[in-house]
Amino acid sequence: MWWYSAAMIDWTQRANDAAKTVRRFEAPSPRVGLVLGSGLGDVARAIAVAATVETTDIPFFPRSTVAGHAGKLILGEWAGRSIAVLAGRVHGYEGYSAAEAGFTARFLGALGCRALVVTNAAGGLNPSFQPGDLMLIEDHISLPSLAGLSPLVGPAIEGLPRFVDLTDAYSPTLKKIATESARANGISLRHGQYVMVGGPNFETPAEVRFLRSIGGDAVGMSTIPEVIVARQLDLEVVGLSVISNLAAGLPGALLRHDDVLATVERAASSVRCLVEGILNRMPE
Ligand code: HPA
Repeated sequence: MWWYSAAMIDWTQRANDAAKTVRRFEAPSPRVGLVLGSGLGDVARAIAVAATVETTDIPFFPRSTVAGHAGKLILGEWAGRSIAVLAGRVHGYEGYSAAEAGFTARFLGALGCRALVVTNAAGGLNPSFQPGDLMLIEDHISLPSLAGLSPLVGPAIEGLPRFVDLTDAYSPTLKKIATESARANGISLRHGQYVMVGGPNFETPAEVRFLRSIGGDAVGMSTIPEVIVARQLDLEVVGLSVISNLAAGLPGALLRHDDVLATVERAASSVRCLVEGILNRMPE
């Protein structure tokens, strides 16, 4: 069962080994990590690239199997920051454990990142949201973590907290900066709570009503394992969701992966602009 197999793995050792391989590429050591969600690969266009690494060439890196997730690590500079961008992530619904899904953050931490920008595609639960809207993640509700599928399940990791405080999972400073950056660039930015579900099936309309009733504004199948691991490592986190569709049962909901991707791709230039604004304003 998953919690026994998780017990055998030394995640820190794996992250350090993975980082050691990547250091051979002699790119500047990144201070900021950026994880690009489904359909957001284009956001990376703004980077002055020092090296591109296939994640299949990085030891212990879980392989992405989903259309829209490229599986590339890009190292370079953007807005004066040395940055590591992961275009493509892995999800629990591909058969990975939450710890494997959170490995991205452990790896970025091992590479030297002190801040993490996470992006994703999400279904709108808030009836005032429209497909194509951007939402700043104020906080999250993770149904998998609440049900025992936290990425931190397993033996305690030496030197890291066992019981991670998620009071400020999303950095108040970076949220303020994201809000200012959106305003300065004329980007309309929603704010809300991201609910994580396991997927890969979309929700039923009854589940969508439930997720709305517990305070969710957007629902998705990713991101939270990375955020929780990042917080264990004390990285500052900021999260952006692109509302790719309205969730099941809402008027106008359209739930095909291709349409979801197309909507996200159209929003990629706003995400790029917003991330650039955040990088510009981020403290050293
Ligand atoms: N539900 C869950 N995850 C999603 C959705 C959705 O409607 N859209 C994009 N990711």
